[in-house]
Amino acid sequence: MTPAARAGARPALLDVEDLGNDGLDEVLALATSPGLPPVLAGAGVAMVFEKPSARTRNASEMAVVALGGHPVSMQAAEVGIDTRERAEDVARTLACYHRVLCARVFDHQVLVRMVDALAGAPDVVPVVNLLSDRAHPCQAVADLLTLRSALAPGDASPAALSGRRVAYVGDANNVCRSLAKVAVLAGMEVRVASPAGFQLSEESVSEIGRLASATGRGGTLVLTDDPRAAAAGADALYTDVWTSMGQEGEAERRRRAFAGYAVDGPLLAEAAPDAVVLHCLPAHRGEEISAEVLEGPSSVVWRQAAYRLDAMRGVLAWLLGVAPGGPR
Ligand code: CP
Ligand code: NVA
Repeated sequence: MTPAARAGARPALLDVEDLGNDGLDEVLALATSPGLPPVLAGAGVAMVFEKPSARTRNASEMAVVALGGHPVSMQAAEVGIDTRERAEDVARTLACYHRVLCARVFDHQVLVRMVDALAGAPDVVPVVNLLSDRAHPCQAVADLLTLRSALAPGDASPAALSGRRVAYVGDANNVCRSLAKVAVLAGMEVRVASPAGFQLSEESVSEIGRLASATGRGGTLVLTDDPRAAAAGADALYTDVWTSMGQEGEAERRRRAFAGYAVDGPLLAEAAPDAVVLHCLPAHRGEEISAEVLEGPSSVVWRQAAYRLDAMRGVLAWLLGVAPGGPR
């Protein structure tokens, strides 16, 4: 790590707000930059997982390797967050050995406590949210890279997606919240169709609204309980599982509540003729998405999964103080 990069390190990416007004554009630029400096040379990155992961763990580990570092992934039981020792002590301990601390947690507040525990230390050790009950910001960066490549190929300008329409259909969950935030920052019209009881909270709507006005790119949020209204003329459809990790006991109730909210052939027919379909994965064919749509020509889900690696390179480089074009 160069002294300049160390000095410019940021404390955390817990959700999209932590990027600030210009941060998202910088992360996207870094993510698509062909050559990033080896800012993690000789350094470790700790990754603690309280839940399963395929994409996030593999993309994050390989992003660390690409930046010259060494990833150390742990299941939560190995460190025992708030069982073997307090989350604050886990964070302080891992910061003794690592340049970055990443975690996938059930309770978002655990991440906030880790950031607080590391605040004021002489060397900034950024904390990265690899998915919590509230947010999935690293996924959202990959989602925006996917939308840009599908809807505005070759256009890397900050306003490339301005005015384009993305419809999220299903549970207004962690993935939906972070997606809506990056999409309004990019100037998109975001439509969210969810049944009563599974819609965005007033607090989330306010957070998204604040970001929509931050860049002046005309981003908007439209809420509905009608999937067809959300899909009508949309440039992109997005869905995620109806039952997130940790909610398995509610699966039956959720299947009933989300009946009619599947992204399937008839819903896709409501969208723009060349609309694309996104899903953060893992997918449940026959529930939130039909096999026909997931495997069909409109689906960009594997491109989206691949962008997770670029997104993580961009996120880590940005947190460590690399600016597009060189260290700050
Ligand atoms: N989309 C995503 O975060 O996948 P994993 O749960 O497999 O990491
Ligand atoms: N909403 C899902 C996303 C999985 C990547 C969950 O939290 O389980």
